Amino acid sequence: MSNIKNIALAPSGRQKIEWVTKNMPILAQIEGEFAKTRPLDGIRIALSIHLEAKTARLAYALRAAGAEVSVTGCNVLSTQDDVAAALAADGFSVNGFHGASDEEYMQHLINTLEIKPHIIIDDGGDLLDIVSGARPDLGEFLWGGCEETTTGIARIRARERAGELKFPMIAVNDADCKHLFDNRYGTGQSTWDGINRTTNLIVAGKTVVVAGYGWCGKGIAMRAKGFGANVVVTEIDAVKALEAHMDGFAVAPMAVAAAVGDVFVTATGCENVIRREHFKIMKNGAVLCNAGHFDVEVSKADLESLSVDITSARNNITGYKMPDGRELYLLAEGRLVNLAAGDGHPAEIMDMSFAIQALSVVFLAQNHEGMKPKLYNVPREIDDYVARLKLAATGLSIDTLTAEQERYLSGE
Ligand code: NAI
Repeated sequence: MSNIKNIALAPSGRQKIEWVTKNMPILAQIEGEFAKTRPLDGIRIALSIHLEAKTARLAYALRAAGAEVSVTGCNVLSTQDDVAAALAADGFSVNGFHGASDEEYMQHLINTLEIKPHIIIDDGGDLLDIVSGARPDLGEFLWGGCEETTTGIARIRARERAGELKFPMIAVNDADCKHLFDNRYGTGQSTWDGINRTTNLIVAGKTVVVAGYGWCGKGIAMRAKGFGANVVVTEIDAVKALEAHMDGFAVAPMAVAAAVGDVFVTATGCENVIRREHFKIMKNGAVLCNAGHFDVEVSKADLESLSVDITSARNNITGYKMPDGRELYLLAEGRLVNLAAGDGHPAEIMDMSFAIQALSVVFLAQNHEGMKPKLYNVPREIDDYVARLKLAATGLSIDTLTAEQERYLSGE
């Protein structure tokens, strides 16, 4: 059973999926192997990741491995209705539509879990939240799960510390072939894609404030510099701040950066990073957006309470008029701008991330009996395997140690 916007949108969704398929060769190769060996035969999977074309590719790969896959999104603004329709038309159980209310979103997650999965695939931790709290019955057959993003992993760690984690979870985000490329180069490029296509404004010569110099922030700052912006980084971690400084960026607290920025991008995983006191000193016309997982980094509550008028300035841009006449512009309701106002990461990037994801699911399926209720790293062999497939797909080759070099490095 599916609950989507309109099945008639399937042809457009299918076209998007075909396009990314041509640009996701690693997942295609893994899918080909899965089709022969069927490592997930008879296994039920609930999948909650931004519901767009690359995620659809992951669902197909898991199905080729023999799994029954029930699909939903993980953010109501990133769900693409045509892709949801294409999956539903192809026999997947799909729950979710663009712009669903919070209640509808919750219902979509629950409907997705009604498959009573053996494995959950989360992006941000919402499925795990439901089976660990409100609806443990939906997790009765659960062996464990995989988590796609930094924020979801922070939530798992908190659950683990509190002794509330009941299943093994695999930190897909922490694999090198995930965060080094997806969080940095993927978010770096797609965040600017979202900002630029939404605002249609120049970046060169502007002051861009990037909050957070983690993997995502590094990519966003790097690409802002490439566009010709003056970049200011805000941080709470002394090492990361120094790193930003030595990478050539200005470093300042938000209380200072707020007054000079033209464009603000948050990528911290933290809440209220830009708030009341910052809005009060911003320039007229400042553009605000977020690339972190939840829409809590730019305080919408503070923007709303400070404003004398709130308007729709352009598709996906909300204008907040301050009492002194300044207007501040928030993109995509403060939700992650690359997905809520764009198509997310490039296909070649998600090819690596979802290759890690698919292989981690198989690892979990094959090893869950010996695993404890804790957070596991992706096995090193999976990371190396995906890196080697990616190198080959990119047409690159590398050196191999000679026997002499191996002896030298091992200190013999
Ligand atoms: P990270 O942990 O590598 O970096 C976060 C950085 O923010 C850290 O350096 C931390 O010190 C800093 N920070 C925390 N609170 C802060 C504050 N109040 N002010 C300034 N800096 C602060 O995490 P990563 O991987 O960069 O992820 C960041 C967020 O982006 C997470 O919510 C993650 O789930 C999300 N994400 C979004 C993606 C997208 O497609 N938009 C893709 C991947 C991750």
